[in-house]
Order: sequence, then structure tokens, then C-alpha cells
Amino acid sequence: RVIVIDFGAQYAQLIARRVREANVYSEIMPSTASVADILAKKPSAVVLSGGPSSVYAEGAPQVDPALFDAGVPVFGICYGFQAMAAALDGRVAQTGLSEFGRTPARVADPGALLAELPAEVNIWMSHGDAVTAAPAGFRTLASTVGAPVAAFENVERRLAGVQWHPEVVHSEHGQKVLENFLYGIAGCSGDWTAANIVEDSVAAIREQVGDKHVLCGLSGGVDSAVAAALVHRAVGDQLTCVFVDHGLLRKGEAEQVEKDFVAATGVRLIVKEVADQFLGHLAGVTDPETKRKIIGREFIRTFEDAAREVAEHEGVDFLVQGTLYPDVVESGVGEGAANIKSHHNVGGLPDDLQFTLIEPLRTLFKDEVRAVGEELGLPAAMVWRQPFPGPGLGIRIIGEVTRERLDLLREADAIAREELTRAGLDRDVWQFPVVLLADVRSVGVQGDGRTYGHPVVLRPVSSEDAMTADWSRLPYELLERISTRITNEVRDINRVVLDVTSKPPGTIEWE
Ligand code: XMP
Repeated sequence: RVIVIDFGAQYAQLIARRVREANVYSEIMPSTASVADILAKKPSAVVLSGGPSSVYAEGAPQVDPALFDAGVPVFGICYGFQAMAAALDGRVAQTGLSEFGRTPARVADPGALLAELPAEVNIWMSHGDAVTAAPAGFRTLASTVGAPVAAFENVERRLAGVQWHPEVVHSEHGQKVLENFLYGIAGCSGDWTAANIVEDSVAAIREQVGDKHVLCGLSGGVDSAVAAALVHRAVGDQLTCVFVDHGLLRKGEAEQVEKDFVAATGVRLIVKEVADQFLGHLAGVTDPETKRKIIGREFIRTFEDAAREVAEHEGVDFLVQGTLYPDVVESGVGEGAANIKSHHNVGGLPDDLQFTLIEPLRTLFKDEVRAVGEELGLPAAMVWRQPFPGPGLGIRIIGEVTRERLDLLREADAIAREELTRAGLDRDVWQFPVVLLADVRSVGVQGDGRTYGHPVVLRPVSSEDAMTADWSRLPYELLERISTRITNEVRDINRVVLDVTSKPPGTIEWE
């Protein structure tokens, strides 16, 4: 495995993902980890991430020079590169020439690290300080105007680094540089593949579960589906899945879970049909927070009831939770990071039922979860489903949630999704909410007649993590097709509008 040391920038997770894209398993550790902590993981290589500090600033995180004598290959990126230079008695100084963003670099001597790169590359920089002299025994490979030593290596000691950010897409040949380090310098083997992940996870789950019983809630989303499929592959019918059909999912999604998923996996599924109960509790409610509370509460109640039934029949020892690696990193679990956040990916646990959590996706990034889902043969629509909020269409109807309104929105949403897919843009758009302004009516004309219908809002956004987002610049032709089809095919919707607000100040959802 490769250990990525996080020097406090937002890049550590990205680096870890890029390393895994090169089929090498990686984990993140905080910069407070000691060399002994790092070596205890038996790393095949260490990557030092970028960070916001200046290596000479008071309290700046440092690299213990002992790391470079441990015989482990090390790759320094940006701050990590400077920290490495400083620890090895190179020279880091303020050149007065900061570089941010796209920067041309000259590759004077590619060495092993920059092998097969052209002599001029555009790379992504973000630095104030620069390395002005490489440590003794190191070859300088590239330079920019503001960074006389922009890349160096010592192949014998298997140490190398770059001033730029090879992990960001704006750095040309960035992945190639990482792979040159991983394969060419560090001698890693690329065996972290979906097939191997499945094999390892299945073995680990079997070991953990033994002959006990497991319960899993399915939401229709990719995480719970992949987690369930993995556990099923490991322990078969010792797993029972529960799906709460609250009537707030999009067109075809309940069927995907109840038919396609079951057909693909053979999972034993209990379906709770509770749309009437949910709509009853939502009657007359328009306040967004109240809606969320009601939906959350009813969901937990229903899931608890199902869990109790299963527990009475055969006992439940484990509950599957779809925690992903970014949640683990952000929670700082087990790695001594200061920032502790709790994540609740299941609705809640019944107090009188005692489960042990089983988290089969705990080491995986989202793209790996999808790759594993494909490897397990899950329906593509499920594997590539965009994020969808727990309260579902309940928070995409502005106003009271009724069955008629849900049906309207489901039709309009299905058209928007279908056209986006047909345009081949699914993976360019993070999420594409369609929102029904159920209490707004406007006058329109269709054929010879006046209409007085509702508008829907199209809210396609691009994002990395949903914390910030920008409105997607969808092609006009696509918007036109969606608009024409919705107004023609969905009675009572006579206007389609586009939300062009970023987040912040807007949120992705309207409620
Ligand atoms: P906002 O609207 O706050 O949404 O920009 C950020 C992301 O979170 C999703 N979202 C939710 N997910 N339960 C969820 O599981 C919720 O109550 C919820 N509310 C918003 C939203 O779809 C977006 O991806």
C-alpha cells in the first residue's frame, strides 16, 4: 500500500484517488503520524501531499528526516516537495515569484520521474516558496520561471518530488508522473482492481460474519446496493435486505430495487410499501424542515419494524452501513486527526436491538464503489445513479406533497433524465434535480386553448463534493428538447425554467 501524508490541503484525498486509479491501494495519514506509525503500515511507498504552510513558518508541519533513511520510496508534492528538500538539506527560499494556476514548465532532463513527458508541459502550480537548490545527490529535472528546481529525483534512494500538483486534471501528464513514480521508481505493482477488491472484501466479510445474520437497508442508491451485493456474495442468505418504499422515489427506482437488483444478486428482500402512510403524515405540510423531520421519522419507524420482524424470525447480529473512505478520513477515525464528525448513513438504530456494524465500503472511494458494483453485475442505472437526497421528491415539490403532484414531478424528472442520458452527459453533471413549483401557476397557451399550469425548475449542477456547486452549462438544444417534451407530455406543466444559481448562495436542492 501507498501512504499519503496529509499536510492539510484539500489535495490528499485526490492524491489517494489518483494512486488508486493507477491500481495501487492507498491510505491517508495525518502529518502528525510518526515515522514509526508510517512504517508500521508496511508501505510500499509514501507520498507527501501539498499543504498551505511555508516550510519555514513557525509550527509548519515538518517531515522527520528519518523517513528518507527508512528505505521506503517517497514522493513529495508541492509542500511535500519543499519539506523533503528542507529535510535533506536542499535550499527552500522565497523567490518573490509566486505561481498560481497553469504554468509552463521546461523539462531539461526527464530522468525516471518525467520519462516520456514532452520538453514543455503545462502544469498546475500553487506556491510562494520555491526550492532553489536540490539536495546533494539529487538530479534536477525541470524548472519554471518561479521555481528553479521544479522536480528532482534520486533514483538509487527511490526519492523524488515535484513542485506542481500532478494530481489535478489541469496538470498535463499528471497521472503519468504519478505512475512513473509508483511503477518506475517505487516498483509498486498495480493489483488494486475491482476484481481483487471484491475478492478481498468477500473474504473479510465471511471472516467477520461467520454463521451469523446480517441486515441491510436498501435506499435505491449505489452505496447500499453495492454493500448489500458484496455481503450477499460473501454470506448468501444470511443477509436480509429491507427496502422502505415510501413513494418518494423517482420513476422506475423502486422497480430497480425490487426487480433488477434482486434479479442481479439473488438477495432476499423485504419490501415495506408505506407510501400511503408517508403521504398521510405529509398531508398539509409545506415547511421544508417539517417535511424532512416527518420523512426521517417515518423512515426510521418503518425500518425498525422490519428489523424487529427479521430479528424475531432469525436474529440479526450485524447491520450493514455504507460508510465510504472519505467519511472515514473526515471523521478522523483511528488516525488521530483532530476533526471528529459523526456520520449517520442509516436512518437510526433501534435502541432495543443490538447490532454490530459491518462496513464493507469503508476503504473505498465512490468511483471504486461503482467499479465494484459493475464487477458484481448490478444494473447500470443503479451503479451510475447520481446522488439523491434521503427525503426524495418530498423536498423537490415546493408546497404540499400529494400523490398527484408526485406523479407530475416523476414524469417531468424522467424526461429530463432520459434526455440527459441520451445526450451522453450523465457523467458531466453531478446532479440534476427537477423541482415542481406546486403552488405557482402561470398562464400559457397550448393548441388553441389557454392553460393555467405549474412550472418546473431544471437544476443541473456540476460539483466535486456537493459542498459547492456551479450550474451546468447544458447545451441549448438539450434544454430545448427537455422543455418541449415536458410541456407536451406532462399535462399541467406548462412552463420549464432553468436555475442559474451557484452554491453558495443557492443550495443544490430547493428545500
Ligand atoms: P444542498 O441542497 O444542501 O444539498 O446543496 C447538498 C447535497 O445533499 C443532498 N441532500 C440530502 N441528502 N438527506 C440526504 O441524504 C437529505 O436530507 C438531503 N438534503 C440534501 C443533496 O441532494 C445534495 O447532493
